[in-house]
Amino acid sequence: MIRLGVNIDHVATIREARKTIEPDPVVAAIESEKAGCDGIVCHLRKDRRHINDKDLDLMKLKVTTHLNLEMSVDPEIVEIACRIKPDQATIVPENRQEVTTEGGLDVVANFDRVKEVVGRLSAVGIRVSLFIDPERAQIEASKNAGVDLVEYHTGRYAEEFLSGGDHLKELEILSEMTAFGIELGLTVCAGHGLTYENVVPVARIEDMHELNIGHSIIANSVYWGLPEAVRRMKGLMR
Ligand code: PXP
Repeated sequence: MIRLGVNIDHVATIREARKTIEPDPVVAAIESEKAGCDGIVCHLRKDRRHINDKDLDLMKLKVTTHLNLEMSVDPEIVEIACRIKPDQATIVPENRQEVTTEGGLDVVANFDRVKEVVGRLSAVGIRVSLFIDPERAQIEASKNAGVDLVEYHTGRYAEEFLSGGDHLKELEILSEMTAFGIELGLTVCAGHGLTYENVVPVARIEDMHELNIGHSIIANSVYWGLPEAVRRMKGLMR
Protein backbone atom coordinates (compact mmCIF):
# COMPACT_ATOMS: atom_id res chain seq x y z
CA MET A 1 0.00 0.00 0.00
CA ILE A 2 1.23 3.52 -0.78
CA ARG A 3 2.99 5.15 2.17
CA LEU A 4 2.47 8.60 3.69
CA GLY A 5 5.41 10.57 5.05
CA VAL A 6 4.30 13.59 7.10
CA ASN A 7 6.57 16.62 6.86
CA ILE A 8 6.41 18.38 10.24
CA ASP A 9 8.61 21.42 9.41
CA HIS A 10 5.68 23.80 9.54
CA VAL A 11 4.95 22.94 13.15
CA ALA A 12 8.39 24.33 13.92
CA THR A 13 7.68 27.31 11.63
CA ILE A 14 4.77 28.27 13.92
CA ARG A 15 6.97 27.86 17.00
CA GLU A 16 9.70 30.01 15.44
CA ALA A 17 7.18 32.76 14.61
CA ARG A 18 7.16 33.50 18.35
CA LYS A 19 10.58 32.05 19.26
CA THR A 20 8.93 29.99 21.95
CA ILE A 21 8.60 26.28 22.82
CA GLU A 22 5.21 25.42 21.33
CA PRO A 23 4.03 23.79 19.18
CA ASP A 24 6.69 21.09 19.45
CA PRO A 25 7.47 19.31 16.15
CA VAL A 26 8.55 16.19 18.04
CA VAL A 27 5.11 15.92 19.70
CA ALA A 28 3.57 16.49 16.25
CA ALA A 29 5.70 13.63 14.87
CA ILE A 30 4.55 11.29 17.64
CA GLU A 31 0.88 12.25 17.13
CA SER A 32 1.21 11.75 13.36
CA GLU A 33 2.63 8.29 13.90
CA LYS A 34 -0.18 7.40 16.33
CA ALA A 35 -2.65 8.51 13.63
CA GLY A 36 -1.15 6.06 11.14
CA CYS A 37 1.44 7.81 9.00
CA ASP A 38 4.31 5.66 7.74
CA GLY A 39 7.15 8.06 8.32
CA ILE A 40 8.22 11.52 9.45
CA VAL A 41 9.99 14.00 7.19
CA CYS A 42 11.89 17.05 8.40
CA HIS A 43 14.31 19.45 6.75
CA LEU A 44 17.29 20.79 8.67
CA ARG A 45 18.02 23.94 6.70
CA LYS A 46 21.31 25.79 6.81
CA ASP A 47 19.50 28.85 8.22
CA ARG A 48 17.59 26.69 10.81
CA ARG A 49 14.44 28.63 9.99
CA HIS A 50 12.19 25.87 11.37
CA ILE A 51 13.69 22.54 12.49
CA ASN A 52 16.81 22.97 14.65
CA ASP A 53 19.58 20.62 15.76
CA LYS A 54 17.86 19.78 19.07
CA ASP A 55 14.62 18.90 17.26
CA LEU A 56 16.55 16.54 15.03
CA ASP A 57 18.31 14.84 17.97
CA LEU A 58 14.95 14.28 19.66
CA MET A 59 13.31 13.18 16.41
CA LYS A 60 15.95 10.48 16.05
CA LEU A 61 15.18 9.26 19.59
CA LYS A 62 11.38 9.41 19.39
CA VAL A 63 10.38 8.56 15.82
CA THR A 64 9.58 4.85 15.66
CA THR A 65 8.34 4.53 12.06
CA HIS A 66 10.87 5.96 9.62
CA LEU A 67 12.82 9.21 9.81
CA ASN A 68 13.52 10.93 6.49
CA LEU A 69 15.85 13.93 6.79
CA GLU A 70 15.69 16.42 3.94
CA MET A 71 19.03 18.12 3.50
CA SER A 72 21.26 20.05 1.13
CA VAL A 73 24.80 19.02 0.19
CA ASP A 74 26.23 21.66 2.54
CA PRO A 75 29.26 20.14 4.36
CA GLU A 76 28.01 21.08 7.85
CA ILE A 77 24.62 19.48 7.23
CA VAL A 78 26.23 16.37 5.71
CA GLU A 79 28.34 16.00 8.91
CA ILE A 80 25.22 16.26 11.07
CA ALA A 81 23.36 13.68 8.96
CA CYS A 82 26.28 11.24 9.23
CA ARG A 83 26.26 11.63 13.02
CA ILE A 84 22.47 11.41 13.51
CA LYS A 85 21.99 8.57 10.98
CA PRO A 86 18.31 8.99 10.06
CA ASP A 87 16.73 6.00 8.27
CA GLN A 88 16.78 8.03 5.07
CA ALA A 89 18.23 11.28 3.77
CA THR A 90 16.63 13.10 0.86
CA ILE A 91 18.96 15.53 -0.87
CA VAL A 92 17.11 18.70 -1.89
CA PRO A 93 18.25 21.98 -3.44
CA GLU A 94 18.39 24.82 -0.96
CA ASN A 95 18.38 28.51 -1.64
CA ARG A 96 18.34 30.92 1.27
CA GLN A 97 15.83 33.33 -0.28
CA GLU A 98 13.24 30.71 -1.19
CA VAL A 99 10.00 30.35 0.80
CA THR A 100 10.03 26.60 0.21
CA THR A 101 11.96 24.13 -1.96
CA GLU A 102 11.57 25.49 -5.49
CA GLY A 103 12.06 22.81 -8.13
CA GLY A 104 14.07 19.65 -7.94
CA LEU A 105 17.77 19.11 -7.42
CA ASP A 106 19.80 19.56 -10.61
CA VAL A 107 21.67 16.26 -10.42
CA VAL A 108 22.94 16.65 -14.00
CA ALA A 109 24.66 19.99 -13.29
CA ASN A 110 25.91 19.03 -9.80
CA PHE A 111 26.66 15.38 -10.52
CA ASP A 112 30.09 15.06 -8.88
CA ARG A 113 29.10 16.72 -5.59
CA VAL A 114 25.80 14.86 -5.40
CA LYS A 115 27.51 11.53 -6.07
CA GLU A 116 30.12 12.25 -3.41
CA VAL A 117 27.44 13.07 -0.79
CA VAL A 118 25.37 10.00 -1.76
CA GLY A 119 28.53 7.94 -1.20
CA ARG A 120 29.25 9.49 2.20
CA LEU A 121 25.72 9.04 3.50
CA SER A 122 25.41 5.50 2.11
CA ALA A 123 28.73 4.55 3.73
CA VAL A 124 27.27 5.15 7.20
CA GLY A 125 24.15 3.11 6.40
CA ILE A 126 21.70 5.88 5.43
CA ARG A 127 19.39 5.16 2.49
CA VAL A 128 19.58 8.14 0.16
CA SER A 129 16.91 9.66 -2.06
CA LEU A 130 17.20 12.57 -4.49
CA PHE A 131 14.39 15.12 -4.85
CA ILE A 132 14.24 15.77 -8.60
CA ASP A 133 11.94 17.06 -11.29
CA PRO A 134 10.26 14.22 -13.20
CA GLU A 135 12.63 14.49 -16.17
CA ARG A 136 14.50 11.68 -17.93
CA ALA A 137 17.97 13.25 -17.70
CA GLN A 138 17.61 13.88 -13.95
CA ILE A 139 16.30 10.36 -13.34
CA GLU A 140 19.18 8.76 -15.26
CA ALA A 141 21.72 10.99 -13.50
CA SER A 142 20.20 10.01 -10.13
CA LYS A 143 20.61 6.34 -10.93
CA ASN A 144 24.22 6.99 -11.97
CA ALA A 145 24.86 8.93 -8.75
CA GLY A 146 24.25 5.69 -6.86
CA VAL A 147 20.74 5.96 -5.36
CA ASP A 148 17.94 3.41 -5.60
CA LEU A 149 15.29 5.89 -4.44
CA VAL A 150 14.01 9.17 -5.92
CA GLU A 151 11.27 11.65 -5.05
CA TYR A 152 9.59 13.54 -7.87
CA HIS A 153 8.77 17.21 -7.30
CA THR A 154 5.01 17.57 -7.83
CA GLY A 155 5.07 21.38 -7.69
CA ARG A 156 4.19 21.91 -11.35
CA TYR A 157 1.23 19.51 -11.08
CA ALA A 158 0.05 21.30 -7.90
CA GLU A 159 0.39 24.76 -9.48
CA GLU A 160 -1.54 23.76 -12.60
CA PHE A 161 -4.23 22.18 -10.43
CA LEU A 162 -4.59 25.33 -8.31
CA SER A 163 -4.65 27.73 -11.25
CA GLY A 164 -7.07 25.63 -13.31
CA GLY A 165 -4.33 24.91 -15.86
CA ASP A 166 -3.46 21.64 -17.56
CA HIS A 167 -2.75 19.54 -14.48
CA LEU A 168 -3.62 16.36 -16.41
CA LYS A 169 -0.59 16.90 -18.63
CA GLU A 170 1.61 17.17 -15.53
CA LEU A 171 -0.05 14.07 -14.10
CA GLU A 172 0.76 12.18 -17.28
CA ILE A 173 4.40 13.27 -17.04
CA LEU A 174 4.53 12.07 -13.40
CA SER A 175 2.98 8.78 -14.40
CA GLU A 176 5.30 8.19 -17.39
CA MET A 177 8.38 9.17 -15.42
CA THR A 178 7.35 6.85 -12.58
CA ALA A 179 7.26 3.97 -15.07
CA PHE A 180 10.65 5.12 -16.42
CA GLY A 181 12.15 5.23 -12.90
CA ILE A 182 10.83 1.74 -12.17
CA GLU A 183 12.35 0.51 -15.45
CA LEU A 184 15.75 1.75 -14.22
CA GLY A 185 15.26 -0.16 -10.96
CA LEU A 186 14.44 2.90 -8.84
CA THR A 187 11.81 3.19 -6.12
CA VAL A 188 9.71 6.29 -6.84
CA CYS A 189 8.16 8.68 -4.32
CA ALA A 190 6.59 12.11 -4.86
CA GLY A 191 5.77 15.26 -2.98
CA HIS A 192 5.40 19.03 -2.80
CA GLY A 193 2.19 21.01 -2.97
CA LEU A 194 -0.04 17.95 -2.56
CA THR A 195 -3.37 18.71 -0.88
CA TYR A 196 -6.65 16.99 0.06
CA GLU A 197 -8.03 18.20 -3.30
CA ASN A 198 -5.23 17.11 -5.62
CA VAL A 199 -3.68 14.05 -3.96
CA VAL A 200 -5.87 11.21 -5.26
CA PRO A 201 -4.67 11.03 -8.90
CA VAL A 202 -1.01 11.09 -7.77
CA ALA A 203 -1.64 8.39 -5.16
CA ARG A 204 -3.17 6.24 -7.92
CA ILE A 205 -0.09 6.32 -10.16
CA GLU A 206 0.97 2.73 -10.60
CA ASP A 207 4.01 1.74 -8.52
CA MET A 208 4.10 5.05 -6.62
CA HIS A 209 5.78 4.07 -3.36
CA GLU A 210 5.26 7.04 -1.05
CA LEU A 211 3.94 10.60 -0.90
CA ASN A 212 5.55 13.16 1.38
CA ILE A 213 3.14 15.87 2.45
CA GLY A 214 3.59 18.78 4.83
CA HIS A 215 1.89 22.10 4.33
CA SER A 216 -1.64 20.92 3.61
CA ILE A 217 -1.72 18.49 6.54
CA ILE A 218 -0.38 21.02 9.03
CA ALA A 219 -2.66 23.76 7.63
CA ASN A 220 -5.80 21.63 7.94
CA SER A 221 -4.82 20.41 11.40
CA VAL A 222 -5.76 23.93 12.53
CA TYR A 223 -9.40 22.99 11.82
CA TRP A 224 -9.45 19.22 12.37
CA GLY A 225 -6.57 18.50 14.73
CA LEU A 226 -3.38 16.82 13.55
CA PRO A 227 -4.40 13.14 14.06
CA GLU A 228 -7.59 13.68 12.05
CA ALA A 229 -5.70 15.57 9.32
CA VAL A 230 -3.27 12.64 9.00
CA ARG A 231 -6.08 10.05 8.99
CA ARG A 232 -8.02 11.94 6.28
CA MET A 233 -4.95 12.19 4.03
CA LYS A 234 -4.12 8.52 4.52
CA GLY A 235 -7.76 7.66 3.80
CA LEU A 236 -7.71 9.59 0.49
CA MET A 237 -4.49 7.93 -0.59
CA ARG A 238 -5.82 4.39 -0.11
N1 PXP B 1 9.10 16.50 -0.19
C1 PXP B 1 10.19 17.32 -0.20
C2 PXP B 1 11.49 16.76 -0.67
C3 PXP B 1 10.08 18.67 0.22
O1 PXP B 1 11.16 19.47 0.20
C4 PXP B 1 8.84 19.13 0.70
C5 PXP B 1 8.72 20.54 1.18
O2 PXP B 1 9.50 20.73 2.29
C6 PXP B 1 7.76 18.23 0.73
C7 PXP B 1 7.91 16.94 0.25
C8 PXP B 1 6.42 18.63 1.26
O3 PXP B 1 5.89 19.67 0.53
P1 PXP B 1 4.54 20.37 1.02
O4 PXP B 1 4.87 21.05 2.32
O5 PXP B 1 4.22 21.32 -0.06
O6 PXP B 1 3.53 19.27 1.21
